Amino acid sequence: MKIRILGSGAGGGLPQWNCNCANCRRARQACSDVLSRTQSSIAVSGDGVDWVLVNASPDLLAQLRSHPDLQPARATRDSALAAVVLTDAQIDHVTGLLMLRERTSPLPLYACAPVLDDLSSGLPLVPLLGHYCGVEAHTVAPGEPFTVAACAGLRFTALPVESKPPPYSPRREASAPGDNIALLIEDIAAGTRAFYAPGLAQMSTDALGTMRQADLVLVDGTFWTTTEMIDLGLSTKHAVDMGHLAQRGDDGRPGMIDWLDTLPRGTRKVLTHINNTNPILDPHSVEHAQLRAHGIDVAHDGMQFQV
Ligand code: MLT
Ligand code: MN
Ligand code: ZN
Repeated sequence: MKIRILGSGAGGGLPQWNCNCANCRRARQACSDVLSRTQSSIAVSGDGVDWVLVNASPDLLAQLRSHPDLQPARATRDSALAAVVLTDAQIDHVTGLLMLRERTSPLPLYACAPVLDDLSSGLPLVPLLGHYCGVEAHTVAPGEPFTVAACAGLRFTALPVESKPPPYSPRREASAPGDNIALLIEDIAAGTRAFYAPGLAQMSTDALGTMRQADLVLVDGTFWTTTEMIDLGLSTKHAVDMGHLAQRGDDGRPGMIDWLDTLPRGTRKVLTHINNTNPILDPHSVEHAQLRAHGIDVAHDGMQFQV
């Protein structure tokens, strides 16, 4: 299967419209080493023709323009996007659904029940799209593998993970299983596996076990330290309170790097959904060098994997 990073930034992207942190300032300069990043999304394909969009970023239209093969032009109205799968109902992962409203048939949308619930109440994109192309909603049951019609060579399994439902959700402080999932994506014929979790606040035995079986692990790279936003005076919240496990551990608790270190040799390890404050965005930073020493890559927009 092919996996393409359409957007490697967290909410706000890089540079964020109202931010003047060191990374955002540098990303605005011409020929900067700090690459601009759109908001978190990937596309997955078994045959390189039909693609499943995992999360629909507010930057979706720009992302599609950057990848002309996602517009194969087989008919006057056409797209290579066969369906959308959601890992959560966060703004940076769902607002792009509105940009697909010109479809000529209902949009196949796969998500767990709590996410479909938020998208029918707090942020009612599903009923709203009913006035445009319509949505063919498929409720995903955690742990039960599913396939998507035009991409039958791929099998998806949702794995509930600890993170945060969106701020607008009634379950923001009392999350239900399915509010946030990791996805196991398997190429059925090739027997290869990818693990995708842009939001992961706490490692679980299940998540780690699934990561251990994967050829490619594409995980939450939001923050370098748990106090990153506090240290910059941008928030009063720790990473975990925003639903993300920082790369560096603290107070004896392991960070994402420590967990990734436990994966089998040969696992491709990549961080994505990177917040604009994270020092790893500068390829010359000591933090970036530390990741390289652990065999961990930093995703950028347009990065592609053959798994
Ligand atoms: C998050 O993952 O915490 C989000 O990026 C927040 C947002 O989209 O506002
Ligand atoms: Mn996010
Ligand atoms: Zn910034």
